[in-house]
Amino acid sequence: MPSSMIRIEGLTKHYGPTQAVKGLTFEVPKGQVVGFLGPNGAGKSTTMRILAGSLNPTGGRAFVGDLDVVENPVAARKLIGYLPESNPLYDEMMVLDYLRFVADVRDVPKDLRAARIKSAAERCGLTGVVSKDINQLSRGYRQRVGLAAAILHEPDLLILDEPTAGLDPNQIVEIRHLIKELGKEKTVILSTHILSEVQSTCSRVLIINEGRLVADDTPERLTARSEGGGAVNVVVAHRHGGALDAATIKAALSAMAGVSGVDDAEGEGSGTLGFRVRHGAEDIRRTLFETAVKHDLTLLEVHRTQVSLEETFRKLTDTRRAA
Ligand SMILES: Nc1ncnc2c1ncn2[C@@H]1O[C@H](COP(=O)(O)OP(=O)(O)O)[C@@H](O)[C@H]1O
Ligand SMILES: [Mg+2]
Repeated sequence: MPSSMIRIEGLTKHYGPTQAVKGLTFEVPKGQVVGFLGPNGAGKSTTMRILAGSLNPTGGRAFVGDLDVVENPVAARKLIGYLPESNPLYDEMMVLDYLRFVADVRDVPKDLRAARIKSAAERCGLTGVVSKDINQLSRGYRQRVGLAAAILHEPDLLILDEPTAGLDPNQIVEIRHLIKELGKEKTVILSTHILSEVQSTCSRVLIINEGRLVADDTPERLTARSEGGGAVNVVVAHRHGGALDAATIKAALSAMAGVSGVDDAEGEGSGTLGFRVRHGAEDIRRTLFETAVKHDLTLLEVHRTQVSLEETFRKLTDTRRAA
């Protein structure tokens, strides 16, 4: 048996002229709970739909276990529980009837159906509402029904597309808890555009932007990457009132030891320039003063700030900045 549950190799998807996925490659080992993170339009749903066998790729390959999802769609789908983005349910149906219907579609053996439905309903906290019509349920409960439906055939892999989208904070906590429980025995890939979403649930984060992978790390390391470092906002003026050359100053700041990047920031009016200097764990202020002196600059302001995890995410996914 292969040790990876998901293997995606050079995956591409074009919708006419739109290139939604542009050569995605990654692997997810068995048992991992992975957050698939990216801004709207990044290609998350497209990738997940391909993986779930509901959309054909333009190029590349996707495997679930050792099964190519295009070549072995039926066998692959048996391993997969999929909660699509819109979670389409049959509104007019009673919860219990819907779960029976899904068990039927999913070929759950007849003699196991009642037990599987009971167990899925219990795990997803649906016992009290099985006799209600789906259209009477809150959005949180509808997501629970979607999750129950996804686990009825006891798949090894859960593909959950924005499972907490549109839920209120209490419902989010409940669904996260449920996903965490399911993650104890299954491989899970869940998508979200909210960074904090993955911190409590996932052991690994894949970040995609415009159809490409831009980060693959643990939530802890992503946090450390940003919290271990910081940024210094500086405003400079020429020491003798001379002209300032932004490009030269930016290059000098960028060349300082420990600096990971320099962005333009607000100055304080004419004759001044502002920069935001991002750095790692070390304190760069001393070097900053030395650099200023060397370039005949006066530091009008030096202000240290933290780089948030949100900022790291924005940096990774902000294509206007990308070279
Ligand atoms: N059925 C479709 N037809 C045409 N373009 C699509 C279709 N589905 C998605 N797209 C486009 O593909 C890109 C990726 O979309 P999607 O995979 O839904 O991203 P995400 O789930 O990360 O928000 C977007 O530019 C989107 O507009
Ligand atoms: Mg989506």
